[in-house]
Amino acid sequence: QYAQKEGYRFFMEKEIYEQSIVVSDCMLGRIKDSEINFDEIDPSILDGINEIKICACGTSYHAGLTSSYLFERLSKIKCSIEVASEFRYKEPLLTTDTLFIVISQSGETADTLEALKMAKSAGLKTLVICNVDNSSMTRVADYTILTRAGIEKGVASTKAFSTQTVVLWMLSLYFAKQRNTISSSKLQEEINTLREVPLALKVYENIHEKAKRLSKRYLHGHGFFFIGRDVFYPLALEGALKLKEISYLHAEGYPAGEMKHGPIALADPELFTIALMPKNMLYDKIKSNVEELSARDSTICAISSQDFELADDFIKINDANHYMLEFFEMLIALQLLSMEISIRLKNDVDMPRNLAKSVTVE
Ligand code: G6P
Repeated sequence: QYAQKEGYRFFMEKEIYEQSIVVSDCMLGRIKDSEINFDEIDPSILDGINEIKICACGTSYHAGLTSSYLFERLSKIKCSIEVASEFRYKEPLLTTDTLFIVISQSGETADTLEALKMAKSAGLKTLVICNVDNSSMTRVADYTILTRAGIEKGVASTKAFSTQTVVLWMLSLYFAKQRNTISSSKLQEEINTLREVPLALKVYENIHEKAKRLSKRYLHGHGFFFIGRDVFYPLALEGALKLKEISYLHAEGYPAGEMKHGPIALADPELFTIALMPKNMLYDKIKSNVEELSARDSTICAISSQDFELADDFIKINDANHYMLEFFEMLIALQLLSMEISIRLKNDVDMPRNLAKSVTVE
């Protein structure tokens, strides 16, 4: 089994390191010069569509939530997202001008599969973003886009998330082009940025070393808040989920601007705040949110390319000129931090207690 890990201590570690390569596979043939192309979907997919609805569970839900910002910002399509287990029983109002998208690494998650079947039988056009070809969801949905991440063994999802996010970002640009909601120069800029994602997902030794060093103290943390704004809010949710899943420490992801409406009451030196502070997205806003927490003595770990004097700890990512590149750089830092804490706690990183890779029962 060690051989399969190719020298890495855990499959999760191997999969974190693989991300830079698998996203290139994921983009292969889909980015051509100044165009995004998906052979697997019909160019008329958006005919009669006014809205996108997304359903997913767990980490895949976080990729979906990230994309809901991109679909509205870039493709100018109204987009909503729901956790599949909530969607199923709320008696949702479904209209056929909605494109229904499900996101799933395995293609087998029971709640997501049932949500997909519900939408399909209500006559909606359906699309699955999935990592496993010929899985149940790919057999039900009208269209499938594969993420091409390769087999993911670690229960805590890593490379499935990064490839899902890249597919969804490309899809939002594909839709933007079709709907004429993006200028050709802006589209070209976004495409050029997409090409830089493999580099943003590279694991740099200094970041990994920093995560190892921080894990010594952070394993003693009693409570963690991961905070961010815009797409960094779903990323904060994902960072908190990773820590919960493999370290069994209590963590919450929160929209930074919402902390003052309750959670800030918890602030004290024992509360560890992991602050996602991207230079290219609402930097001043998040900075003032973090300053408020620091003033109330919360211990702050900033992840940013920008120096921040109030940070107790700091993970410095490379400077980038697009918020999505910062997103992927921060993702790597968050994944490594959880993994290193989990390793120090001597937990089973790849098979955390109580969890399953694929949940095929309700
Ligand atoms: C399980 C896994 C999670 C995963 C979720 C959704 O709970 O432990 O890592 O995010 O299912 O799985 P899916 O295969 O549908 O993406």
